[in-house]
Amino acid sequence: MDLTDRTVVLTGATDGIGRVLALRLAGRVGHLVLHGPQPRSAMAGLLDGLGGRVTYLTADFGHLDQIVRLGEGIRAAVDRVDLLVNNAGRAGTPRREVSADGIEATLQTNYLSTVVLTTALLDRVGRVLDIASATHLSAKLRLADLGLAGPGYSGVGAYAQSKLAIVTYTCWLAGRLDGPTAEAASMHPGIIQSGLLAGMFSIEGDPPSRGADNILSVAGRPESINGRYFDESEPARPNPLALEPAVQSELMDRTAALLSPIGVDPR
Ligand SMILES: NC(=O)c1ccc[n+]([C@@H]2O[C@H](COP(=O)([O-])OP(=O)(O)OC[C@H]3O[C@@H](n4cnc5c(N)ncnc54)[C@H](OP(=O)(O)O)[C@@H]3O)[C@@H](O)[C@H]2O)c1
Repeated sequence: MDLTDRTVVLTGATDGIGRVLALRLAGRVGHLVLHGPQPRSAMAGLLDGLGGRVTYLTADFGHLDQIVRLGEGIRAAVDRVDLLVNNAGRAGTPRREVSADGIEATLQTNYLSTVVLTTALLDRVGRVLDIASATHLSAKLRLADLGLAGPGYSGVGAYAQSKLAIVTYTCWLAGRLDGPTAEAASMHPGIIQSGLLAGMFSIEGDPPSRGADNILSVAGRPESINGRYFDESEPARPNPLALEPAVQSELMDRTAALLSPIGVDPR
């Protein structure tokens, strides 16, 4: 996909990989819609330096009602979303945290909120690119306890499960889309130095520019990427669980149940 003159929505544009990606996209695409949890006034350092047409919208992924409003705000701003990059994400925390919606916070931020936003934009989206993580490869889905209330919670485990959920969702969604005009893929952006990486792992990462370039490389692929998973910029195999129809189906049923209080059913 040639991104020139396209409308691109990017979540989590205020820091790390997303911030560099915003800088790369600004002035190159037709209309860049950026999301962050920070108020616009706090983002002047980023936004004032961006060329081209830019819209900035705020929402905390820890509050589902804010994601519903974010979807409405994007719909009001654009008729079409050629590319939706679902990049916003957080680290798992050492102690289990619960959001204002009563849901395990990492699952909500990294998975449920992304599903809500994608569902809100689905009738006008071209390419959905969900930023997952290679940690999903060794994860399992606790389908009967997605909120990890039972024994054995860990921050890395919660993060990895949330990323397996988004990869599984992406594979499920790809099966519902019609390929040429609408498609969904997920990817691992690399091991990248960021607040998120430092929040979970004591390892050095590559600079955020590498993650941004990997996302640009996948987002710009000319062929259909519907249902694909990428490790950095190369096609790779996702966790086999993500491809199992029974797992996808149960995940979507449980996702719908978690989202029923806000009246969203992604199925
Ligand atoms: N870094 C890695 O090695 C790595 C590896 C695999 C996958 N990833 C994925 O890549 C994506 C970007 O991560 P990153 O490394 O660039 O991390 P980052 O520097 O921490 O950036 C994460 C972005 O998400 C936003 N965000 C976090 N919590 C949010 C919330 N509750 N509501 C709304 N926005 C929120 C952050 O906003 P503020 O910072 O402004 O609060 C920031 O803009 C994530 O999905 C992450 O899981 C990263």
